[in-house]
Amino acid sequence: TMADHLRKYETLFTLTPQRMRMIVEAFKDSLELGLEKPEQIVPMVPTFVFGWPTGKELGDYLALDLGGTNLRVCLVTLQGDGKFEITQSKHRLTEEQKHDDGQKLFDFCAECLKTFIDTTLRDDKGIHLTDGKKLPLGFTFSYPCSQDKIDHGVLIRWTKGFGAANTEGNDVAAMFRKSLEKYELPVTLEALINDTTGTLLASHYVNPETKIACIFGTGCNAAYMEHVKDIPKMAKYKIDEKADIAINCEWGAFDSFEHEHLPRTKYDIIVDETSNKPNEQAFEKLISGRYLGEILRLVICELIDEGVLFLGQNTYKLESPYVFETAFLSLMESDPTDELLMIIGIFSHFFAVETTLAERQFFRALAKLIGKRAARLSACGIASIVSRMGYLDEGCSVGADGSLYNKYPKFADRIHEGLVDIFGEKGRNIITHHAEDGSGVGSAIIAAMTKVRKASGL
Ligand code: BG6
Ligand code: GLC
Repeated sequence: TMADHLRKYETLFTLTPQRMRMIVEAFKDSLELGLEKPEQIVPMVPTFVFGWPTGKELGDYLALDLGGTNLRVCLVTLQGDGKFEITQSKHRLTEEQKHDDGQKLFDFCAECLKTFIDTTLRDDKGIHLTDGKKLPLGFTFSYPCSQDKIDHGVLIRWTKGFGAANTEGNDVAAMFRKSLEKYELPVTLEALINDTTGTLLASHYVNPETKIACIFGTGCNAAYMEHVKDIPKMAKYKIDEKADIAINCEWGAFDSFEHEHLPRTKYDIIVDETSNKPNEQAFEKLISGRYLGEILRLVICELIDEGVLFLGQNTYKLESPYVFETAFLSLMESDPTDELLMIIGIFSHFFAVETTLAERQFFRALAKLIGKRAARLSACGIASIVSRMGYLDEGCSVGADGSLYNKYPKFADRIHEGLVDIFGEKGRNIITHHAEDGSGVGSAIIAAMTKVRKASGL
């Protein structure tokens, strides 16, 4: 029966508290290794964003956000005391753009920026608001880059299914500057920023309890503020030992290549091996929105092959990779009807197959297992930073953003439950909350902080 099958998947996808604590220990070691030496599995990138914003950052800033799905252009006006205004435009990236030549991708970014400046930055008398002056720009580029200053970053590797040629190993800030010059844009690229770093600073700007920021979206990653003195690989920069610096962990890479610590099922291994980057982003592939739907689809396909599901029906529509979106998992989990009408709809409308109630209950339970595992693994990541920094007793706030966090029902609750499983009652001191727009507001704050530092000759 479906119930017997379910028991098998329960065993495969369930994480016990004890297993979670083991993962946290291994995670902490990886974070430490990344801070000690360059080029480790978890890169622990120093972002050259020093300390928290003062809240006095003011003025107009442009932000360009190249994320996983969209390209966003924003004009942010910082008004001080945690207040701001934002105007933006969004463009969808095509699969072709993600895999074509990298310089072309940056040219497209510059083109969208140009359109935005030409249209949005004119007042009702047609006067161009940038006339005569250059606007500072923060570039949120949410892929792992190694930095040795704030307006520079060498792409370590593409993640989230991107694969544009001639980009890995290059300074993406320099490439983007080239595109900005090509379109003669009145902007100065002040800072290259990861979405997690932007989210960390933006969340702290409005809620000073924030000490960690996470993205749970197409990708999964975190940033936090570290003491320069505790980063051995930064000794060569001779920076004031009392300073703090934001670290972009790039924790999606945890356990990559070695696969020693994470409980990967055979479905996870197929996802990994058929991806454009096998062996990489091992942690991210168990958690992020790009992969959860595909994991569930692989389980369904296995049961079709075994003759358990959809006997006598044509299931070809379920057989192409990545057709089962993670959004379907959210919908299946939140179906409020006894008959599970939403699940009937998903399967009949998108995949042209009929389902029985028992099958629908099974799919819903499966979605729950996969979604819950993702949230509990996320809790392990958060716990490793909390434990490294000693935040458990005083407690801390974790700014979180991304489609999974914002739209997947119970994702946040499950992270919180996970933290209690790891730390006991004290785990309740760690609270996630929806973050402020990191790549817009965060990027503006960082660009503002950079201008101040530059002006004071640092
Ligand atoms: C947005 C943040 O809400 O989430 C971005 O403002 C971030 O900074 C994005 O990159 C990530 O989510 P997704 O789901 O688009 O990958
Ligand atoms: C991927 C990227 C990382 C980003 C995350 C969330 O993990 O490598 O830079 O922060 O996705 O968007």
